[in-house]
Amino acid sequence: MKETFDFCKATAPSSTANLGPGFDVFGLGLDLFYDTVSIRKLATTNGKIRIRLDNNTSIPSILEENTASLAVMKIAQKKKIKNDFDIRITKGVPIGLGLGSSAASSAAAVIAFNELFQCKLTENELLDFAAEGEVSSAGVKHYDNVVASLFGGFVVVRTFPSLEFIKIDTPKDLVIVVCVPNLITPIKKTKYARSVIPNRIPIEDHTRNLSNACIIVSGFFHQDTKLISKGINDLIVEPARKSLIPGYDKVKSNAISSGALAVTISGAGPSMIAFTNTNKNARKIGQSMEQGFAGSKIQSTAHVCRPSGPARVISNS
Ligand code: HSE
Repeated sequence: MKETFDFCKATAPSSTANLGPGFDVFGLGLDLFYDTVSIRKLATTNGKIRIRLDNNTSIPSILEENTASLAVMKIAQKKKIKNDFDIRITKGVPIGLGLGSSAASSAAAVIAFNELFQCKLTENELLDFAAEGEVSSAGVKHYDNVVASLFGGFVVVRTFPSLEFIKIDTPKDLVIVVCVPNLITPIKKTKYARSVIPNRIPIEDHTRNLSNACIIVSGFFHQDTKLISKGINDLIVEPARKSLIPGYDKVKSNAISSGALAVTISGAGPSMIAFTNTNKNARKIGQSMEQGFAGSKIQSTAHVCRPSGPARVISNS
């Protein structure tokens, strides 16, 4: 007999997008923070969906503005699911700091909903629905954080002419230092951070960025952290965004002086992320990044982590 259940809980990791030159194309899941989303199916069919937010979190509780509910409402519409349901969101990923917070909620939500209602969505469908949530925070459907949060590890995504992604194993020695400044960012931070990016770029910058992006992909294929790090240098988006991050230059130079192989903005910022191939210098790199922010009177906390696994169901009953 087919097993039925009316509740499902899933979790999804934080992520970093871009990795320098891979704007909107590269995502890396981070085994650091996790969002958890529980969905309870009700027997009623009154078109009612309720959201409950744990941890006094400041994310929107309006259905059309919440990334998790936006994503699952689209699935319900597509699959003609009429049941009422409750969504409970427990935020673990810091909000608005460049660590894929909105993506983690929508990734966990689509995984839970898919399992609960036995929607049998393909990986591409899961990705496309999860990305619906990004419209509310970024103004556009960008896939780099959701693809990493859903599938874990390093992922390359393209949207044109069709949605496709490739997941590549991460090197065993890849260590990531994430320095999170204690800043309150505007609600539409990503949308704003996207508005400062130039519309036109010199062809030389495009060529350099493309070659760096290729180096990063080659580095993952060869499981070579040093090669990956050589490519983490962005001449287009990062120069335009760095003025949005107080202490950016100092954080970067401190991390490099302390042995980091590469440093870049995590997603749309303001967190900064450094790469190294050993745990030995990771703490020192983190402290030097904190000092870099402190030079601009910004408190911050550095974390050391590894790439994450995928979003997953943690319980159903
Ligand atoms: N690629 C997106 C951006 C990521 O940089 O705007 C946002 O987290």
